[in-house]
Amino acid sequence: MPRIAVVPGDGIGHEVLAEGLRVLGVVAPDLDFEHFDLGAARYLRDGTTMPPETMLRWRDEFDAVYLGALGDPRVPSNVHARDILLGARFQLDLYVNFRPVRLLDPRYCPLKDKGPEHVDFVVFRENTEGLYTGIGGQFKRDTPEEVAVEQEMNTRKGVERIIRAAFEWADRHGKTKVCMSDKANAMRHGHDLWQRVFKSVAAEYPRIRASHLYVDVLTMQMVLAPEQFEVIVTNNLFGDIVTDLGAAIQGGIGLAASGNLNPGKSALFEPVHGSAPDIAGKGIANPLAAILTAGMMLGYLGRPQDEKRIQDAVQACLHAGNVTRELGGTRTTREVGDAVIAALR
Ligand code: NAI
Ligand code: MG
Repeated sequence: MPRIAVVPGDGIGHEVLAEGLRVLGVVAPDLDFEHFDLGAARYLRDGTTMPPETMLRWRDEFDAVYLGALGDPRVPSNVHARDILLGARFQLDLYVNFRPVRLLDPRYCPLKDKGPEHVDFVVFRENTEGLYTGIGGQFKRDTPEEVAVEQEMNTRKGVERIIRAAFEWADRHGKTKVCMSDKANAMRHGHDLWQRVFKSVAAEYPRIRASHLYVDVLTMQMVLAPEQFEVIVTNNLFGDIVTDLGAAIQGGIGLAASGNLNPGKSALFEPVHGSAPDIAGKGIANPLAAILTAGMMLGYLGRPQDEKRIQDAVQACLHAGNVTRELGGTRTTREVGDAVIAALR
């Protein structure tokens, strides 16, 4: 029986996770959940951000973490979110940021003449190194001569494992293409490493067609001809940017799901959106990203047929126009959850 750590977190995290959990109750009633009181309220109450022993329990006792969102205007430093999310990412070594870009209903695609058959790929974003390690420094701060240096870290181990994860996933899911994106023409050291490692890993997967695009070209192609992609693998910074573009072409932040994975070891699943303080507590947040994220978690746990069931139910809900305000509908968070559950049954 898989064990899932549940962290609703802050703001709409509570509202959308409640619907995700109701859906899981229907599709996967055997899951064993434990709720963790972590987030801004806990931090404001007793100063706790992320107890080290909880992180160890997540690592040793749970198959996955299911998280809502973190961020609260009452904690401007965002220290709790950093300790929990970045803490998990680094301490559980969640080196894969897995982001499917799948359009479920053509009405929500901002691209002209593109439908679900054109927008269906996944992005593997490196999640632990690159430009996001904080290596660097400032010199002569707040003077006209100020210098600020941010260094990009690429290790052979780090580059190889994300590229391999992309090929492995492609192989296991019957995909035939993996596209690596970098900026090796301008970044001659780190991205040359990506080029060499990509070639050597690709050689181990002769069935899969390996291709390459510079990231500026990738962004154009994602808009002009997204149908050419099945699996994209890229570094931390570029992955951050292209996955938001991906969220836009699949129908927006209310529909985007993500997983942070150390495959076979630890995993944390969360909708891409944040805690949305502007609409929190109003019951109008779109729960579909959290529901699709729950489906993704089931796929990771080896239940692809349950993932598909959830995805089909979400699609039915979209087709029927059972959507929240930001997608032009009038349904509440709870009503959208009801519609998904009705479609499941
Ligand atoms: P956000 O994603 O929370 O909101 C951006 C805009 O999208 C807002 O107008 C919001 O109302 C709307 N929105 C987001 N999710 C929605 C949903 N499910 N249904 C309908 N509308 C939705 O990003 P923002 O405003 O930049 O950040 C708010 C807080 O969330 C901050 O504290 C930020 O640090 C945090 N945050 C946390 C993330 C996480 O937990 N992984 C990710 C992004 C932001
Ligand atoms: Mg982002």
